[in-house]
Amino acid sequence: MKRKSLPLSEVYRLLEPGPVVLLTTARKGHANVMTMSWHTMMEFEPPLVGCVVSNRNFTFNILNATKECVINIPTVELAGKVVSCGNTSGRKVDKFRSFGLTAVSASQVKAPLIAECYANLECRVVDARMAAKYNFFILEVIKAWIDPPRKRPRTIHHKGKGVFMVAGKTIRLRSGMK
Ligand SMILES: Cc1cc2nc3c(=O)[nH]c(=O)nc-3n(C[C@H](O)[C@H](O)[C@H](O)COP(=O)(O)O)c2cc1C
Repeated sequence: MKRKSLPLSEVYRLLEPGPVVLLTTARKGHANVMTMSWHTMMEFEPPLVGCVVSNRNFTFNILNATKECVINIPTVELAGKVVSCGNTSGRKVDKFRSFGLTAVSASQVKAPLIAECYANLECRVVDARMAAKYNFFILEVIKAWIDPPRKRPRTIHHKGKGVFMVAGKTIRLRSGMK
């Protein structure tokens, strides 16, 4: 076995979940969007999603204050804009205007949906007890939207250091997991 020791700093590149999403928030009439790949499903129904939003990000302040957001799921066609939203801060830039994203009113929260994304999940923060220590928020999805014609959405998955995997071939097996 010719296994090599892997630096611990590289571990996230193996486990990084997908897909990369765009997290929208809003406060005082101003909407912001941030790229996020550190998220995980935690419960089927009601759907609970855990996510890490760094306290260095403008989004952290808005999310912590408003306790609302939308998880927007983009496909590969939006990859350039997804990276741009992850390389700039809403403190300085109106990302919707700068990157040509369309904000659409959500039904349950003040944060907007992004029209160009194939799915949008309106969320409320249900637990922020780990936000101070780990930047970890637990979100409950309270309304979900999907664009049905997109049968096989080619979502993007971050492998770290600017490398992305694009969802492709699917296979069907008898899995006991719901
Ligand atoms: C592919 C990608 C994935 C990212 N994932 C996360 C993440 O999971 N959590 C996080 O806090 N920041 C993540 N970021 C960084 C933020 O998107 C970035 O800091 C952004 O500028 C924050 O914007 P804001 O200051 O407007 O909130 C990611 C960036 C990229 C490019």
